[in-house]
Amino acid sequence: MNVLEVTALHKVYAGKVTTKALTDIHLSIESGEFVGIMGPSGSGKTTLLNMVSTIDQPSSGEIKINGSNPYLLNKKELAHFRRRQLGFVFQDFNLLDTLTVAENIVLPLTLDNRKLSEMESLLEKVAGQLNIKDILKKRTFEISGGQRQRTAIARAIITSPAMILADEPTGALDSNSSRIVMESLEDINRKEGTTLMLVTHDPLAASYCNRIIFIKDGKLAAEIHRGDNRQAFFQKIIDTLSFWGGNSHELSSIRV
Ligand SMILES: Nc1ncnc2c1ncn2[C@@H]1O[C@H](COP(=O)(O)OP(=O)(O)O)[C@@H](O)[C@H]1O
Ligand SMILES: [Mg+2]
Repeated sequence: MNVLEVTALHKVYAGKVTTKALTDIHLSIESGEFVGIMGPSGSGKTTLLNMVSTIDQPSSGEIKINGSNPYLLNKKELAHFRRRQLGFVFQDFNLLDTLTVAENIVLPLTLDNRKLSEMESLLEKVAGQLNIKDILKKRTFEISGGQRQRTAIARAIITSPAMILADEPTGALDSNSSRIVMESLEDINRKEGTTLMLVTHDPLAASYCNRIIFIKDGKLAAEIHRGDNRQAFFQKIIDTLSFWGGNSHELSSIRV
């Protein structure tokens, strides 16, 4: 079954200058896939993610998540739909500084009025998965960037959403923390079968995906699949980026 079905999606930003951010995008993501979206700066990656995450409305075309079109829901239904179906991970973590790590993680459950015992067992489970059990009582300014992102991922998965959407989740992290965060996402995808859609410009982060879609000037430009070998996939990503006009000159020093 497809978790995501994008059909003939167009997005135009009106204003002093009209920007065609996305043109005729067709995209399906099956349950359990780990899909990366890559492309040069300004190519429309964030716009696509924002359409899928229901943050912003398409100009035309259709988006279906688990068979239903979120744009047909009213405000209250949409809020509920997003909490149940989607988990979000951002570059800058979006954690609340006044809360502890544990409180941040269970926040989506408190909004859903879940029972305390249920919240505690789910917290225990996701904190174990993300290997952050020993920092649950700390506040977000007392932990590292990698730990913050793992906290954000724990918060995103605690509701068992149909899909996790991540925009540059390693963008603010050093290479070692990036690796740990990507390994965590890969682990969640494999063990829980959680569907992931990740926007990144980092080829190393992208090499953890199973399929990568390249966007250029708001259009789908290429698609590549990972085999068993992540190292080989990394090289394929670099090659595809340089062919489609990524920032290949910035990549020469990167090693897997
Ligand atoms: N809110 C907005 N209003 C007007 N133009 C926008 C807005 N958001 C993005 N754009 C434009 O749409 C295009 C795609 O942007 P974006 O999706 O952010 O690209 P990416 O994430 O790949 O860097 C760019 O030309 C950008 O300037
Ligand atoms: Mg972006």
